[in-house]
Order: sequence, then structure tokens, then C-alpha cells
Amino acid sequence: MRALSIAAIAAAIVVAQAPAFSQVSLLFPHGVASGDVRETSAVLWTRPSRSAPVTVEVSADPQFGSLVFQRTVTPNPERDLTVKVLASGLAPATRYQYRFRVGRGSYSQQGAFVTPPAADASADLTFAYSACSDGGHVGGAPALSMGLLDAVVAERPDFFAHLGDNMYPDSSLVPNPIFTLEAYRGKYKEIRSIATFRNFMASTSMITTWDDHEVENDYDRETVDARRWAEGHRAFMEYSPIAEQPGGRIYRKFRWGRDVELFVLDGRSYRSRHVSKTAACDNPPGGRVPDLAPTLPAPIRAAFAPLVPQMRLPVPSGCLEALTDPNRTMLGLSQKLWLKRELARSTATWKLILNQTPIQEFFANPYDRWEGYAAERAEILTFIRASGIKNVVWLTGDTHATLVNDVRLSTFTPPFETTGMKEVVTGPIAATVFAESVAGVAGRAVVPALLAFLTAPVPQGVGMSCAVMDRYTYAKVEVNSRARTVTITPKDAAGRSICRAPLVITAAP
Ligand SMILES: [Fe+2]
Repeated sequence: MRALSIAAIAAAIVVAQAPAFSQVSLLFPHGVASGDVRETSAVLWTRPSRSAPVTVEVSADPQFGSLVFQRTVTPNPERDLTVKVLASGLAPATRYQYRFRVGRGSYSQQGAFVTPPAADASADLTFAYSACSDGGHVGGAPALSMGLLDAVVAERPDFFAHLGDNMYPDSSLVPNPIFTLEAYRGKYKEIRSIATFRNFMASTSMITTWDDHEVENDYDRETVDARRWAEGHRAFMEYSPIAEQPGGRIYRKFRWGRDVELFVLDGRSYRSRHVSKTAACDNPPGGRVPDLAPTLPAPIRAAFAPLVPQMRLPVPSGCLEALTDPNRTMLGLSQKLWLKRELARSTATWKLILNQTPIQEFFANPYDRWEGYAAERAEILTFIRASGIKNVVWLTGDTHATLVNDVRLSTFTPPFETTGMKEVVTGPIAATVFAESVAGVAGRAVVPALLAFLTAPVPQGVGMSCAVMDRYTYAKVEVNSRARTVTITPKDAAGRSICRAPLVITAAP
């Protein structure tokens, strides 16, 4: 009898919840997100399925007993019905819940975020970061698993930093890429239609930046189609929980208490043409195939020659000059000056740079990353060192591999100097892994040879302390205020640590 009544109660609860759940799915099919959370404000995002007024509610109480912020907005078809609200009047170091509703009782999924502590408060911080989430569908279903994000949610991070390639219009899984505004919007909708992704978005706030795939693979601003870039930018801004800045600017910074300042870069929007898109490094000259490692010392090129015949050829004259041309830029003048100024001005113990393409040297196919913009790379690294700016760490995505190393001015050539900075590259969330890409370009036998080169000590290799190229990964970052340490642990989709040991850096005084 007792068991029956419990079963009856349970059945009644299921019946009572069922209509609400289906309304959620119908009215807010792409979930909710929060981002750019500051001490007293947060950007809240959703997309209702029809153009009816939407009210956002924010509360420190999980039951929404009292609201600290409420606003009603009407979704704009010009913005594909995406809704972004800047919630204000929040308190620092506080966990908030938020939800959207249409009418009186049709609610979205509930999301949560944590505001940072006041800038003079010392506080620990745990966050996670990764990049490269291909949520493309094939035959009506997601082609790749987003399961890594379940592991991220389980970490209960204070926020998640997405370092770019939020979606892939030109995914290798899709035969005919389309680069239109509608196609870009469709890709954001596709990934937000995956329950795992929606659950992840609701679980914590995001600091989002973009890289190349939000427009097209490996683009630079000098050669990209201007209309395509504008449409890619528009769709990214519509669908990301990112604050709107003058001129559509994406680079920005965030403070987390006394100990942390985060500098979010936009390494795409202002960069010069890739040298690989000129003929300067084609090897053989005129062959339209850029040299795969033009800056690699001759003895190591020779060691790779049995596997990569191009390494038998001398580096074309003019190639190195093109790579080191001081007139070429990755950040553009304004962003470069902003980064230098704000790094020098920062009073935070840790200056964490959220970066797209790697800044450490690893020589293989260098054109799309900082090594392909060698003069500006050297300028920024030299500036940080010469200005005495301490405790800078580079957190990076793009490569679809986990690569941990020193950031050196020059690994193999005089003055052989390091900068005292480390970089942890990680990812992808879900996309073709680096080992597969290398096998596709240079042959499968090159994969173990490259791995050996990456991990061998200098001067046989570049001496990475961790190099993992064959799986989906993210990194967990823990800042311990009292111990003055930052611990960075790259992990796989099961939440297991993948390096021999986490990277632990103790702050310089
Ligand atoms: Fe990517």
C-alpha cells in the first residue's frame, strides 16, 4: 500500500513535469548561456523559437524566491531571434541562477554562473579551457561526441574559456561547405541542439573568443573575402554570450580578484597574409607546396628527409626573410599596443593570456601560428621580459593537440634564450585530432617521428614536457591564492590527467 502510494506520487510528478519539459524544448531549443561575467554584471543569452517577448530572471536563490535582475526584451529577427541581455546590479563572489520565460509559465532550462571576487580580494580560482568544437551533423545526428564537456561540467569550474573554433562551417565531415550568414547561424544552432552542449552551457559561464573556423579555415584578414568575414563575425556575435564592444572588437580582459587577470586575444581579425599564401616558401620553388619546416635546423631537416622528401631540399631563398618581415602582424597595431599596455599596467599576480594559435616553437608547418609572424612574436616576448612583467602564462587552443613547453625566443639559434614563460596548448573539444591531420599531410610514419622530436630534449628536439596528439582534451587551471601557485592539468574526455604530471608554476615575487 505504502509502495503503491509512492509510485502514485512519482507518476503524478512525472505527469506534472511532462508538459513543462516539452514547452522548454519547443520554446528554447538552443538552450541558455552566460558569459563575460564581471563583478556586478553578466551577459545572458538564449534564442526562443518564435518572436515573442522574453523575460530573463536572475536570482541568488535556486528557487528564484527573490529576483536581483529582471528584464523583458523582444527578439529581433534581424539577429536571428538571438537574445543577449546584460544583467547588472549583481554582487561579487556570488553564485547566481538565471532563466528565461515567455509569458507567465513557459520557462527555459535554468543556467548558473559565479561572479568574480572584488579586485582587491584574494581568492582561489578554478576554470577550464579548450577550443575547437565541431558540432556538425551528418544524417541528422551529431557526427562527433561532445562527451568531453560532461567531464568539464564535473569539474565545476568557475567559468570555461573557449579559445575559438566554436563551430566548423567547413568541417571535413561535411562534403560541401557553405559560407553564408544563414549557414554560419545554422552551425551555431546545430551545436546548440546537442543536449550535452546545452547542459554544458547552462552549467557555468563562458569567456569566448574566436579563431579561424567561425569564418573559414586558416584565414587571414588580408586575403579573406570581406563580406564572408563580416557575416562570420555577425553570426559569432549573435550566438555567443559575449559583450558588445565598439567596432565589434573581440579582444578584452577580465579580472578575478587580486590574483588573476585574463587577456583574451583575437589572433585573426587583424593578421597579415600567411607566408604560405605567397610563393616565398614554396619548395621546390614554383611548386605551390610550402616548405613544411623552413626554420628547422639543417641536421634535423636531414633526419626527417627519409620520411619527408621535401626536407632534402634547401630552404628557398627569401622564405625566412618573409617569415621575419617586421611589417607583418598577427594582432594588428591597436591590439598589440593594448596587450603591451595592459600587461605592463596589471597589478594581478598572474597574467593569463587566452591565445588562439601556439606561441611556443615547434617548427612543423609554422605559417598559421606565432612562428609565422616571427618579428611580432619576438617583439612581444622581448617586451614582456624587458619590462619585468612576471607570471605570464599562455593558454592556447587551435592545434587539436596538447603541447606543454617553455616559450623560448629561439630554441636552436643564438642567443638560445627562454623567456621564463610557459604555454599549455590543449584541445580539441571535438574535431579531427592533430595526429590524423599530420598523417594526412605528411604520411602516417611521420606521426611517431614528430612526437619524438617534440619531446626529445633540446637540441635533439624541442623538449616538450607533455605532447599528446591523438585525443580530445581540455585543461583544468587551479589558482591557489595562498600558495601563489597555478596548476594546469590537461585531461581527456574521461577527466583523466594525460600528462606525466600537471604543470605547477609558483609565482615569482
Ligand atoms: Fe580547430
